Formats: sequence, C-alpha cells, structure tokens
Amino acid sequence: EKGGYDHYMLKEIHEQPRALRQALSGRVDELAGDVDLDVDLPTEYLDSLEEIQIVACGTSYHAGLYAAQLLERYADVRVSVHVASEYEFGGGRDPWRTLAVAVTQSGETAETLSALREAARAGARTLAVTNTVGSTVTRDADETLYIRAGPEIGVAATKTFVSQVATLALLAVHVGRRRDTIPAADARDVLDAIRGLPGAVQQILDTDSQIREVAREYADSSAFFFIGRKLGHPVALEGALKLKEISYDHAEGFPAGELKHGPLALVTDDTPIIAVLTRGANPDATLNSVKEAESRGAPVIGLSSAGRGDKYADAALSVPDLGVMEPLLANVHMQLLAYHIANAKGRAIDKPRNLAKSVTVE
Ligand code: F6R
Repeated sequence: EKGGYDHYMLKEIHEQPRALRQALSGRVDELAGDVDLDVDLPTEYLDSLEEIQIVACGTSYHAGLYAAQLLERYADVRVSVHVASEYEFGGGRDPWRTLAVAVTQSGETAETLSALREAARAGARTLAVTNTVGSTVTRDADETLYIRAGPEIGVAATKTFVSQVATLALLAVHVGRRRDTIPAADARDVLDAIRGLPGAVQQILDTDSQIREVAREYADSSAFFFIGRKLGHPVALEGALKLKEISYDHAEGFPAGELKHGPLALVTDDTPIIAVLTRGANPDATLNSVKEAESRGAPVIGLSSAGRGDKYADAALSVPDLGVMEPLLANVHMQLLAYHIANAKGRAIDKPRNLAKSVTVE
C-alpha cells in the first residue's frame, strides 16, 4: 500500500504534484485573474475586515506564516498568526471585523479547535482550512475550505503542507480581488505561479538522487541550521521541524538576519547551513548571512533559483523559476533532505518516537 516506496512519507512527498493539482482543480479562472472558492464570505464583509487571525500548530502554523505574507500583500489586510495554544481573543479587536482562520490538516487538533471556539465565542466569523472531510473543525467553523491533498499517513506532514500553502495562496487572491486590492493582471501572475506548482515540484522530485547524495554527505553533522528571509522564513522553520522530528538531530530554523544575534555562536565546520536563496526570500540579504556562516567554516547547502549563491554553496540545489512560490519549492528539497538523513540513520520515519499524527489533547 506504500506504492513501492519504503515509507509513506516518501510516497506522500512524491504525491505532491497530484495533491496540488487537486487543490487547484476548478478553482482558478486564469482569464479573469480570479479564484472561485466555495466559501460564503460576502464582499461587503471582506471589505470591512480589519484583521485576519490565523490559528494553527506545528507545520500548519508554518503554512499560516507563509500565507500571512501573501494575504497582507494581495488583500491589504492585517494578518496575525498564532500558535493555537497561545491564542487569546483580545487587544480591543472588533469581532465583526475579524476573521479567524484555523489551519489544521486533521481538523482534530485540540488546541486549534479551542482557539477557533474562543474566536467564535467573541463573535468573530470563522473559517476552517483542512484536509479532512467531516472533521470536528468543519462542524465548528462557519465556513470550510478543503485542501484536497488526500489521506496523509506519515506522521510528518509533507503533501498537506504544500497543499495548505497553495490553497491559502488562492484564498489571498480571492480576498484581494473582492477587496479590490490586487489588479487582475497582478492576480494573473500570482495564479500563474500557483498553477506552475505541480510541474515545478515534479522537476525537484526528479532530482531526488542528487538530494540523497547531499543528505548522505552531511548526515552525521552535529546540528543543522535553516535560514531564510520573508517567505523563506516559514520555510526555514518547517525544514528544521521536519528534520528534527524524523531524524532526531538538532535542527533549528531562523530568519537569516537573526543568525548574527546569537545563533552564530553555535556555527562550526560541523553545522551545515541550509539557506533559502530564491525569489520571494530576499536572497541578496540572505547571502550576507551565508557568508557569515561560511567564514566560520560551516558547510552551506544553498537552495536557489537563477543560480544565486551557487559560488558560496558547498552543495547547490536548484529551484525552478516560480515567483512567490519558489520558497515553497525550496521546502520540497528540505523534505527530501530530511527524509534521506533520517533514512541513512535507520529512523522510524513514518512513526517517529513520542509523536502522534493527530494531537487531540491540550
Ligand atoms: C509535523 C506535524 C505537526 C502538525 C501539527 C498540527 O510534521 O505534522 O506539527 O502539523 O500537529 O496538526 P494539524 O494540522 O492536523 O492540526
């Protein structure tokens, strides 16, 4: 049932092009530069919005961080992203002008459900973004937007992460078009990038053997640091989470600029730096951080489009040109790096120690 793959995780990584096609199917009107989502969010309501609050945990929180930047840019609305277990509705917000969005693959994460209920109690409208038909969150929320990734068995979320980001990117265009904050021509460019995802992800999957070699070369390092800016930041956090959960290695993600404010003290010739050097991730500024790490002897794994930074990288993995979706593509490299590092160590990849697929206790 693993379709010839050694692990569900690897199977699900390879299912990403199909999952993405399903997420987009019937939702993109290329000609009009618009998106058709089956959610009841009237234009008058969206026009009056003051804030979107995203609540989520773990990988879904990282998808929320990526989406927040797109929503702010295209829908010109303030967005706050909350780790669900830390969420409180307050700060003098007007509930009628606040949309609470729960991002949860399973639809059953207790802390995310509690946060959404708190927002609803305060009077906010609620939207669930989930993979699981009929899950608790779909019954709690006013509206549901499905990511349509298909069942995910591996404990480590992979295809659902890319599908969450793609679906939330559609939501950003949808809201932006209704608020009239993104012109049709610009929306068409964004939609082009989103529609390019399945093919571009496939291109990366086709380079798997190269990624495996890089993974084997660095598998025995003492720690791994993932850095990125802007849209590269949530991707760096997600890359580190995936690696630590399945390989049990010490991995951390930082906004690249923060490296010099503390973490640089940990950087040695035995701590690879995995850097997002794509469009949408302020690659020129990130290169400065790469140089700081390199001058301390750290090996650099560069994930870059247009060959940026290849001359600084000890291992260069290339990301196809895809505008604001390039950082998401860099994440596919990170998934495979994590998988191959964990596999080289013989870890229980589909069922990492101490972890459950869905966390239904607070
Ligand atoms: C990491 C992972 C977890 C989940 C988190 C939220 O690979 O899978 O961090 O993302 O437990 O789960 P959902 O999205 O089901 O609410």
